[in-house]
Amino acid sequence: MSMYTVPTLTRRAFLASAAATTAAMLPLAPALRGTAATREIALRAAPGSVRLVPSGEAAAWLYNGTVPGPEIRLRQGERLRVAVDNELPEETTIHWHGVRVPNAMDGVPHLTQKPLASGESFVYEFEAVDAGTFWYHPHQRSFEQVARGLYGPLIIEEREPVRVDRDVTWMLGDWRLTKSGALSDDFGNRHDIQHSGRVGNVVTINGRIPGDFAVGKGERIRLRLINAANARIFSLDFVGHEPVVIALDGQPVTPLVPDNGLVVLGPAMRVDLFIDMNGNAGSRTTVADRFYKGLEFGLVDLVYDATPLRDHAPDWPLALPANPVAEPDLRTASRNEVVFNGGMMGEMVAQEMGERMSRGATGGMMGHGNMTAGGMMQMASAGPAWFINGVAADEASHAMKPIVTLAKDRSHIIAMTNATAWHHPIHLHGHSFRVISRNGQPTRHREWQDTVLLSPREKVEIAFVADNPGDWMFHCHILEHQAGGMMAVFRAA
Ligand code: C2O
Ligand code: CU
Repeated sequence: MSMYTVPTLTRRAFLASAAATTAAMLPLAPALRGTAATREIALRAAPGSVRLVPSGEAAAWLYNGTVPGPEIRLRQGERLRVAVDNELPEETTIHWHGVRVPNAMDGVPHLTQKPLASGESFVYEFEAVDAGTFWYHPHQRSFEQVARGLYGPLIIEEREPVRVDRDVTWMLGDWRLTKSGALSDDFGNRHDIQHSGRVGNVVTINGRIPGDFAVGKGERIRLRLINAANARIFSLDFVGHEPVVIALDGQPVTPLVPDNGLVVLGPAMRVDLFIDMNGNAGSRTTVADRFYKGLEFGLVDLVYDATPLRDHAPDWPLALPANPVAEPDLRTASRNEVVFNGGMMGEMVAQEMGERMSRGATGGMMGHGNMTAGGMMQMASAGPAWFINGVAADEASHAMKPIVTLAKDRSHIIAMTNATAWHHPIHLHGHSFRVISRNGQPTRHREWQDTVLLSPREKVEIAFVADNPGDWMFHCHILEHQAGGMMAVFRAA
């Protein structure tokens, strides 16, 4: 473990307090006029540097000079207004990951807005419809912009505060550093695109290599985990503790103890935990990451104060109040097949898929039956690396056409098949969806997510009501896979 310590306080900086006078001047939706406060914040994206290791500085891109950017906090039902200045040497946008915003505020270049050129400004504004743990990041060349440090937490508090001793955000990130401590500039290289993405060699919590995290015996902490890494998957083991998962991707879930005690987060995913600190006063526990076999490591140490806070865990409620997400009706839902394909070591799968597709077995709506296994393999070695229903989207072409139109306010099932040898965290914009089955087995908690981690070869079904009109990105959140073609657009209309 290193000498660095993890910041234990949440950042509330840069948040102007709610100003009634400002709210009155806004074009609010009629139902909200005069009731909802507006939080305002300015974000400036600009080059900077971070010293992650003593040996040198990394050339970073930062929001307001820090990584993560400022923690934006507001209460459910309030509005957020963010004035963004782009002082980067290239175009950017900001996407409010997981927040069900109006389409024009979603921050997808060329799809929902013109990107901000260097020197330009833009104002995002939306209502915080759901309480939960969200985050913000650029959606323009995100494989480089996020890897350089452009990301920050967005916390929407429940209307009634939830009882805990401390509410803590850990924004997980990773960096690929050279021996001299500089940031490796091989962003978006072919190898990363075709394999597991840009997995870094230095893991940080809230932008620092973590050391000790001070806790008190008997303390209940709400820990908000956010995985902001481009590609790294975490599987956290809070050795000797029993974290209870209370929300996934911001949305409350029936409180559950994770399988094998491991808290798994693919890129972009969030997990809210209640952890009762049940260790002995004066003791120390290492929280380990066990996702990559043979590469387990100690992430951070929980260090118990000599004085207990209380003898036993508090007996406070575990469940969070539900968010106003529309319930999909599975009996009337449309069914849509999506097949993910590509990557290295996918030959067998490519062949199988070629056969299936030529039999037209992928379902009518998004079928591209003329794609042969050979064609796919050729493309995998030279051009795009990843395909959704046989098509690799090109972010730079500015011509992302919807692959399906989902009837507005109706229920839809997306049946996804991961026909690759890799994990993929699949994210849908503008909606939260229920994960209803994995490999044909109904899920126990039908959890709401906005990003679902598919294991190699896994089949996952999700369901949701397409109640947010517009064109929405649907993509892998391993940012190199996204850049390599693993994205598409769903239209809700
Ligand atoms: Cu976190 Cu399309 O994004
Ligand atoms: Cu992927």
